[in-house]
Amino acid sequence: MIGTAGPGMQVSITGLGCKVPDRVVTNADLAKFVDTSDEWIVERTGIRERRMASETEALSDLALPAARDALRQAGVSGPDVDLIIVATVTPDMAFPSTAAILADQLEAADAAAYDLSAGCTGFMYALAQAYGMLAGGLAQRALVVGGDVLSRILDWDDRSTLVLFGDGAGAVVLEAVPEQGFLGFELGADGAGGASLWLPGSGSRLFDEPDKYVKMNGREVFKFATRILVQSAEDLLSKCGLTIDDVDLYIPHQANVRIIEHATRKLGVPSERVVVNVDRYGNTSSGSIPLALADAAADGRLRPGQLVLMTGMGAGLTWGSAVMRWTKEMAA
Ligand SMILES: CC(C)(COP(=O)(O)OP(=O)(O)OC[C@H]1O[C@@H](n2cnc3c(N)ncnc32)[C@H](O)[C@@H]1OP(=O)(O)O)[C@@H](O)C(=O)NCCC(=O)NCCS
Repeated sequence: MIGTAGPGMQVSITGLGCKVPDRVVTNADLAKFVDTSDEWIVERTGIRERRMASETEALSDLALPAARDALRQAGVSGPDVDLIIVATVTPDMAFPSTAAILADQLEAADAAAYDLSAGCTGFMYALAQAYGMLAGGLAQRALVVGGDVLSRILDWDDRSTLVLFGDGAGAVVLEAVPEQGFLGFELGADGAGGASLWLPGSGSRLFDEPDKYVKMNGREVFKFATRILVQSAEDLLSKCGLTIDDVDLYIPHQANVRIIEHATRKLGVPSERVVVNVDRYGNTSSGSIPLALADAAADGRLRPGQLVLMTGMGAGLTWGSAVMRWTKEMAA
């Protein structure tokens, strides 16, 4: 799916918040559980540490403070929100949805609320859905959360996945704006690649040994990621009549520094325009892009008028890009 924002359909991000668990887990900490080393992890992934939820923390415990910060920045209160989408593969439970739990916590009594499953691309899919509902006049104010507590579904005996992921959530408020904001989206899915990154035994399909842990073919996912980050961004920029030189800030999914470097080199984005925080958080799945947005805002790198390109990719296999002209003055 690919499309551009039509005239009279200006929607933008007016508030931004994020939350990560307090517990920092270093590479050396993980080396106590599996046969790995700080040197291997840094060289192959660029990750130095990640945050991991405590036993009592669930996704909504991260999503709620992130959402409250985003609403505060937008100057919007919970009851004003009429759409809540939580992009995640680790909701508090299968049902009720984490979005419904959030709606209750935020007193958003008039909101449609649901969770969305598109792997690490979830936040990009949710942005596109919220954009569509606002632009179509169905909703006025949307809260979009991307977040995961992947530590719950990792096999702590599997070094090939354990070292890559972390926990965290980010939230944004979407509202109509007089001009600029989102310019276009490109989203896709290739189900044939699904078994490269999957969670067998987590649903209604029965497996012989349902252990409910993430399984991944790292090389296949690496090949897919390096190809799709470039292709999706190029297709969308071209559809919007833009080039990579127009992009002021590039926010790729934070999976691995090598994947990010490969994509930025192929796209031709200067490194000072790229946001990278995977070294501190690992791959937080749907939390990755909003956490990177929040980091860029905190660093004073996100300013009105800037062209921001975001691309996510992940399980499905799925991918998604958005390009927008940033509209909000971000208080440091
Ligand atoms: C996972 C990834 C870092 C592995 O890097 P790689 O260079 O492809 O490494 P390989 O899988 O070829 O493994 C090389 C060796 O390191 C070993 N290894 C794997 N994980 C290890 C770890 N955590 N510590 C130490 N050694 C490890 C392998 O067993 C293999 O050993 P062998 O040569 O004796 O068989 C890389 O494939 C990757 O980043 N893939 C994308 C993953 C991703 O981003 N997933 C989420 C997408 S949303």
